[in-house]
Amino acid sequence: MLSYRHSYHAGNFADVLKHCTQLAIIDYLKRKDKPFCYHDTHSGAGSYTIASAEMQKNGEYQSGIGKLYGRRTGISIIDHYIDLIGSLNPTGRLNGYPGSPQIMLSARRPTDRAQLTELHPTDYALLQSLVGKSKKVKVYQQDAWQGLKALLPPPEKRGLVLIDPSYEVKQDYKTIVTALQQAYKRFSTGTYAIWYPVLERKATEQFMGQLANAGVRNMLRIEHCILPDVERGMTGSGMIVVNPPYTLKADMELALPVLDKLLSEGGAGSTALEQLTEE
Ligand SMILES: C[S@@+](CC[C@H](N)C(=O)[O-])C[C@H]1O[C@@H](n2cnc3c(N)ncnc32)[C@H](O)[C@@H]1O
Repeated sequence: MLSYRHSYHAGNFADVLKHCTQLAIIDYLKRKDKPFCYHDTHSGAGSYTIASAEMQKNGEYQSGIGKLYGRRTGISIIDHYIDLIGSLNPTGRLNGYPGSPQIMLSARRPTDRAQLTELHPTDYALLQSLVGKSKKVKVYQQDAWQGLKALLPPPEKRGLVLIDPSYEVKQDYKTIVTALQQAYKRFSTGTYAIWYPVLERKATEQFMGQLANAGVRNMLRIEHCILPDVERGMTGSGMIVVNPPYTLKADMELALPVLDKLLSEGGAGSTALEQLTEE
């Protein structure tokens, strides 16, 4: 059933938006001395090798990090993301791309904690070997939705929950709404970041409607499409952020046009930034 492997897609335009958002939220959480908890529901392998057969198969990273690496955009959240990837590639050449767990591992302070769930046996093993033995970072071969129930709320009472399914199971769209409602009841002060693909506009807007009616306050929608809706396949992606840092909307107002300019195909991209539910 689990046929999706993120190694074929790592570093693509959708990862750029997701990881820029993730890092901007982590940076905001670090403004306070108090430690935070990062919970990753669908962690993947944790890090990826550009020269691997998987990453080379479709070369998706070329539509994302490949266009940004080594650049300076003047936009702080994008530049910090590019710098972090630079720090993981000490030779200067883009040899590796971080997954969401490695972004957290690189950005966290010694006191910040992470709990990472991943079901695929191969990716779980790769993730476990990336993390190694750590008191503060725990890897679980556990179902994402079970993990949310078992591991939230964190004792820190502050943190980021990244929800990043592959949507290979259509049910994921429904499950996310229920899982978010339940997690939010137990951990209402947490920030939640949900990634979604734009594959078919009508279905995307239906999903937005379901999230908007979930009874969860303060949701920000951030979207970047590199192609018009009429094209086939994944034309864009977005992030729904619950309890976003108050700085995130303004940061994204600056970042989205720059990402669009650098990543969209033939200038045919579009962006959206809207408050989906009020505070
Ligand atoms: C999109 S990838 C995650 C990418 C990762 N968050 C990143 O940004 O680097 C989705 C991952 O979810 C895993 N997965 C799928 N269904 C799952 C489930 N029910 N519970 C936990 N992991 C699951 C897949 O094996 C895959 O590695």
